[in-house]
Amino acid sequence: MPAVDRQRLDVITIFPDYLAPLDLSLIGKARRDGIIDLHVHDLRSFTHDRHRTVDDTPFGGGAGMVMKPQPWAEALDHVRAQGEGAVPRLIVPGPGGVPFTQALAKELAQEPWLAFACGRYEGIDERVYEHAAERMPVTVVSLGDYVLNGGEVAVLAMVEAVARLLPGVVGNAESLVEESHEDGLLEYPVYTKPGVWEDGGVERPVPEVLLSGNHGAIAAWRHQQRLDRTAARRPDLLHPSSVVSGLTDLVGAPASSADIPELIVLSRACWLPEALDAGTSDFPPMTDGPEELAASLESWSTWVWRSGGRLVASGRGRSDPDDPSVWQVGRLMVAPDLSGRGIGRAVLAHIESLAPAEATSFWINTARRAERNQRIYRKAGYRLAPWESRVHPATVDMVKPRRRRTD
Ligand SMILES: C[S@@+](CC[C@H](N)C(=O)[O-])C[C@H]1O[C@@H](n2cnc3c(N)ncnc32)[C@H](O)[C@@H]1O
Repeated sequence: MPAVDRQRLDVITIFPDYLAPLDLSLIGKARRDGIIDLHVHDLRSFTHDRHRTVDDTPFGGGAGMVMKPQPWAEALDHVRAQGEGAVPRLIVPGPGGVPFTQALAKELAQEPWLAFACGRYEGIDERVYEHAAERMPVTVVSLGDYVLNGGEVAVLAMVEAVARLLPGVVGNAESLVEESHEDGLLEYPVYTKPGVWEDGGVERPVPEVLLSGNHGAIAAWRHQQRLDRTAARRPDLLHPSSVVSGLTDLVGAPASSADIPELIVLSRACWLPEALDAGTSDFPPMTDGPEELAASLESWSTWVWRSGGRLVASGRGRSDPDDPSVWQVGRLMVAPDLSGRGIGRAVLAHIESLAPAEATSFWINTARRAERNQRIYRKAGYRLAPWESRVHPATVDMVKPRRRRTD
């Protein structure tokens, strides 16, 4: 769903002046342009005693004060009554809430009406949440894992993050697309003129690639910077595939029956291009199901490799049932998003290393049209066998003699 064109915001607080910064900069302009319709309510206007009391001591003892339910209930009912049938989505800032993220900001940008309840002291009497939840959707949202004195700072941050996603608030909409967290990575470093900055005797040039005019090279450099920066500062954001540079980054183990579902998925992903190329998916890596896989685990030595728990590579080997001097290698697979990192070659070498002492040669079968695979196997020392494939006419056999270590 796209962001709304116009958003109503109601903020209930005991410090209305705290929200004054929302008159400044792009958010202030958005208010003047009518994109944001902001209403700030003083919670104390909904009290009925001389001292305009909003807090009291906690039941059960303990430090601090708790915000009384009655002013909150009246304030929320007052806000809701503005809607003529519509209801706001209520956001209650709190350190115990769901984390405020770019994804949540995008979700909130789709809401035509948001209300915010700024707690103070030790928080708001819990019954207020029940009262509110019976009248409107309520989400408790945390700005981060630390404790602020009140919800106002959190509201300022949330309103700014949400409002800048509304159309017309940020002039250059493209600048929103390239930012940190848009696709799970942090942003690349940015530079402006001068090209070389004289910093009190130190020359600080901008990275040369940015002056090259080569847009492909600039995009590649920026992407790498984003990965490096995210790995250094926020490794928790990185998908395992972006930090894998070879087989040594993976955890390998002999396959077990628990791996079968993932082996099926990986196999389909790896052989899909071949199926599309051949115009048929009627060959074993695309059709083998749980039973065939379970049987193959009995007759083949199958290994799997994982990254962050995800099964991303596999291969298997066995002695040729008709000729124990031949070690058959098969089902070499690497998740497509990890290709080009030498993992396939390393898997092949590992499967070869499982060959028993009596094996004197290796054998592998691949599609006649799978030229890329054949190139990889040739690089690993395999050559086309001088006979017709023993598996299927659309495939070829490739073989290589086993080299014995001489030491
Ligand atoms: C001192 S805090 C209360 C903390 C509460 N006793 C607790 O431990 O969860 C007062 C108010 O500050 C706001 N607040 C504090 N930390 C916050 C955070 N990390 N994110 C959002 N709001 C926060 C909430 O509105 C909260 O009601």
